[in-house]
Amino acid sequence: MRKVVYPKPGGVASIEIVEVEDPVPGAGEVCVRVHRAGVNFAELMMRQGLYGSSPNFPFTPGYETSGVVIEIGEGVSSVNEGDRVLAMTGFGGYSEKVVLPESRVFAIPESISFDQAAAIPVTYGTAYHMLVHLGNLTKGESVLIHHAAGGVGTAVAQICEAYGASLVIGTASSPKSDFVESLGMRFVDRDNEDFVQVSKEMTGGKGVHHAIDPVGGGHLARSYKAMRKGGKLYYFGASAAVKGQNRSRMAELSMWWGMPRFDPLSLMSSNKAVFGVHMGLLEDQSIFQGHLEALSKLLLEGKIDPIIDSVWRFEKIADAQMHMHNRRNKGKIILDFS
Ligand SMILES: NC(=O)c1ccc[n+]([C@@H]2O[C@H](COP(=O)([O-])OP(=O)(O)OC[C@H]3O[C@@H](n4cnc5c(N)ncnc54)[C@H](OP(=O)(O)O)[C@@H]3O)[C@@H](O)[C@H]2O)c1
Repeated sequence: MRKVVYPKPGGVASIEIVEVEDPVPGAGEVCVRVHRAGVNFAELMMRQGLYGSSPNFPFTPGYETSGVVIEIGEGVSSVNEGDRVLAMTGFGGYSEKVVLPESRVFAIPESISFDQAAAIPVTYGTAYHMLVHLGNLTKGESVLIHHAAGGVGTAVAQICEAYGASLVIGTASSPKSDFVESLGMRFVDRDNEDFVQVSKEMTGGKGVHHAIDPVGGGHLARSYKAMRKGGKLYYFGASAAVKGQNRSRMAELSMWWGMPRFDPLSLMSSNKAVFGVHMGLLEDQSIFQGHLEALSKLLLEGKIDPIIDSVWRFEKIADAQMHMHNRRNKGKIILDFS
């Protein structure tokens, strides 16, 4: 079988596709023939050596896949050979076949496509975790989201609609304005508009109830300012540290330098909350499994439906990642391993 490998930190030219022996499941494990894998911004950061919790190089990235179970190990009872599944690989998902513990594999009904199944776990899981699990998003509340046209951004927009948010302000690059507005968000041009000012103007001067920031640095401080008293800020990414396809120490330093330090006394007196969110490092995986169950229900009820920007053959992985580096994606990018 073939799989994608990051041999060393680098740009997309460093990516390799290698031929290896087929993996064999041990006791309690499942082998999945992968059909689709989701592409995540974090996997671009890992390639640059910018992601603290990734394995040592060389390694195969790939958080999430969908496919068919082709072999089960001794003692496996929740899935059978031939089942269509979603697999939460964590790492290693950019492969034609993966072996993983049974607890990370979930059967999916015929009505859910492989594209949808590979597009849901990371983006919707993260959006749901922040807004519903931590934030108790309530009808009539307002939300600010950045990279609004991307995987997590489009998931946030749909979850906001499903839970009755009255206002979603979405920042993105200017060519995506129509797309962002088509999802019911108030578009803010990330380069030419001040999202703090727009957030205040749109909420009678108070600010938003929920501000979701995957950027970091001084941008995070501005997201905090866009919140009202009693508001909740979620910090969950470091896109400010990424400049182009190779690692930039200057961008990293500048992000760290600009990071706000929150004062507990001022959080207390304004009833504000700041959450740090890293789904890959959730200790209690049952929380994530609960999110997946809730999300499949929302999907089957037609309340969410992942927006697929594009599907690329996995041999074109470099082009697929450049599409994201160049900020072109509107929704989720998917790799085809079928
Ligand atoms: N902590 C967690 O558990 C967790 C889980 C999932 C995602 N995340 C974070 O959430 C963010 C979105 O992830 P995603 O996978 O859904 O990606 P995405 O938003 O689909 O794609 C990236 C988009 O980010 C914007 N962007 C901002 N800075 C960029 C840069 N330096 N280089 C390229 N694009 C940049 C671009 O859109 P615009 O220019 O239009 O803004 C681009 O289209 C990422 O920061 C990711 O690390 C965190």
